[in-house]
Amino acid sequence: MIAVENQIRSAAKVYHSFHQIAIYMQDLQENAGKFLELCELCKSPAQEILKRKDLIVVSHVDADGLTSAAIICTALERRGLEYQPMFFRQLDETSIAEIADRNADLVIFTDLGSGMIQQICECGLPAVVADHHKPAACAARPLAHINPHLVGADGATQLSGSGTSFLLARELALTPSANDDLASLAVVGAVGDLQDMARGQLVGINRHILDIGSNAGVLSFGRDIKLFGRQTRPVFKMLEYSQDPYLPGLSGNEDACIAFLKEVGIRLGGERWRRWIDLNLEEKSSLVTAIIRKGLRNGLSNVKLERLIGEVYVLLAEQEGTELRDASEYSTLLNATARYGHADVGLSVCMGDRDRSFSEAQKLLGQHRQNLVNGLKLVAEKGITPMKSIQYFDAGDAILDTIVGIVAGMSFQMADRSMPILALARTEQGEVKVSARGTQDLVRSGLDLAEAMSSSARVLGGVGGGHNVAAGATIPPDAKQAFLELVDRAVGKQLSKE
Ligand code: C5P
Ligand code: ZN
Repeated sequence: MIAVENQIRSAAKVYHSFHQIAIYMQDLQENAGKFLELCELCKSPAQEILKRKDLIVVSHVDADGLTSAAIICTALERRGLEYQPMFFRQLDETSIAEIADRNADLVIFTDLGSGMIQQICECGLPAVVADHHKPAACAARPLAHINPHLVGADGATQLSGSGTSFLLARELALTPSANDDLASLAVVGAVGDLQDMARGQLVGINRHILDIGSNAGVLSFGRDIKLFGRQTRPVFKMLEYSQDPYLPGLSGNEDACIAFLKEVGIRLGGERWRRWIDLNLEEKSSLVTAIIRKGLRNGLSNVKLERLIGEVYVLLAEQEGTELRDASEYSTLLNATARYGHADVGLSVCMGDRDRSFSEAQKLLGQHRQNLVNGLKLVAEKGITPMKSIQYFDAGDAILDTIVGIVAGMSFQMADRSMPILALARTEQGEVKVSARGTQDLVRSGLDLAEAMSSSARVLGGVGGGHNVAAGATIPPDAKQAFLELVDRAVGKQLSKE
C-alpha cells in the first residue's frame, strides 16, 4: 500500500514540476502577442478618458466586478479625475436606461457590457467597455471595446474583468509603472471568477499580470495547499470546511479533524489556534502527506487529490493573517459585500479602507458563510434533478438569487460531474434567476453555457450570458420548465448527444 502510494506521489510530483514549467513557458510565449494586442487596444480609450470630466464607472456585483471598478476608480483618482461608481446584478435595458439618465460625459463599463454592446450603443451612451464576458454578435461599436475574446483569448480562464480593467488602468497611469501595484486586485478578481481552478493555477494573459505584480513587489505566488482559509482559519477548521476536494472522514467533522492533527503530530495551538501560515515547512509537508494517505485509503481519486495542491497568490502589501493577504479569501470577502447589496463596502476595502469598511466586510463575511452552508444543506435535502444533458435544483426563495450560482458551483461535490448544473432562484422582482456551472472537462467536450443560456433566455423573453463554464440568465417566472428544456436540448447538441 505504502509503496504504491509513494509511487503515485513521486510521479505526481515530477509530472507537476515539469508540467508546470512547460505550462508556464508556453503560456507566457503564446500569450505575449495577445497581451500586447490588448494593451494596444487600451491606448486610445485611455486618452479619451483623460480628456473627459464627468465619468461613471459601471460594474458587476461580484469580486471580479468590485476589483475591476476599484482598479479603474483608483487610476482615475490618481489622475485627479472625478467619477461616480454604479453597480448592477446584470446589465439589461432597464439598467442601461438608468445609466443613460445620468447624462455622463463618458461611461466606463467594467466586468460587464460585452453582451449588451448593441443596447449600449442604441442608447447613445459614450462608452468604453472593458469586459471579459463573451461578446454578443452585433454591428454597433462603442467608443472602445476591450475584451480578451477579441484577441482570441478565452475570457473564462485567461483574463478576468479586473485583468482587462488593469490593462486599461496601466494606460491611464501618469508614469509607465505607476499603476502596476493594482495587479494584486486584478489577481483577486481572476481568482474570484475561479480562473485558477481549471489548471490549478492562473493561465493565459493572467500570467503576464502575475509577472507585473511580482515585479512591482505586491504579489508572490507558489505551490501550496489549495484549501480555503490558509491565512485566517485554525488548521482544524480549514480541514473541517474543505469542500474542494471534499475529504472523506475529515470534511464536516471537527472532532475527526482535531484527532487527525494530533495523530500527525501537529500542535493545535498555544494562546491561539494555529493557522496554516503558522505551521513550519516540515509540519505542512507531513500534514499534506497524511491527507493524501487518508484520501487514498478512502478511495479519493488522483484527480481529486491533485486539486489539493496548486498555485496560491499572496498579496504582499496586506497584513498577514487577514483575509486580504490571500487572493482567494479576499475574493470571498468581496462577494460577501456586493452580492448582498453592499458593493460600496467592498469597493472601499479594495480602495484601501482597512478600518470601518473592512470590519463591516468581515461581519458580512460571517453571514455569507452561513448562507452558503444553509444553501448546500438545502440542495442536499431537496436533491438535484437530472434531465438528459443537464441537472438542476430549484431553490425558490430559500437561496438568494445573487449567491445561488456560488452554491451551484459548490454543489458539484454531490452532483454528477458529467453534466452541467443549473440552479433556479426567485429574484426580489419576482423573476427567476438561473445560474449554470460546468466543468473544464465538459468545456473541452464542447460545452458553452453562455451560448445555451443566452439563446434559450432570448426565446422566452429573458436575458442571459456569461462564460462557457459559468453563465446566468433571468427569465419570466412561468418560463422555468420551457427554459430547462431548451437549455437541456442546447447542451445536448453541444455535447453531441443528439
Ligand atoms: O450570477 P452568476 O454567478 O450565475 O453568473 C455567472 C456568470 O454569468 C457571470 O460572469 C455573470 O456576469 C454572467 N451573467 C450574464 N448575464 C446574465 C446573468 C449572468 O452575463 N443575465
Ligand atoms: Zn468577471
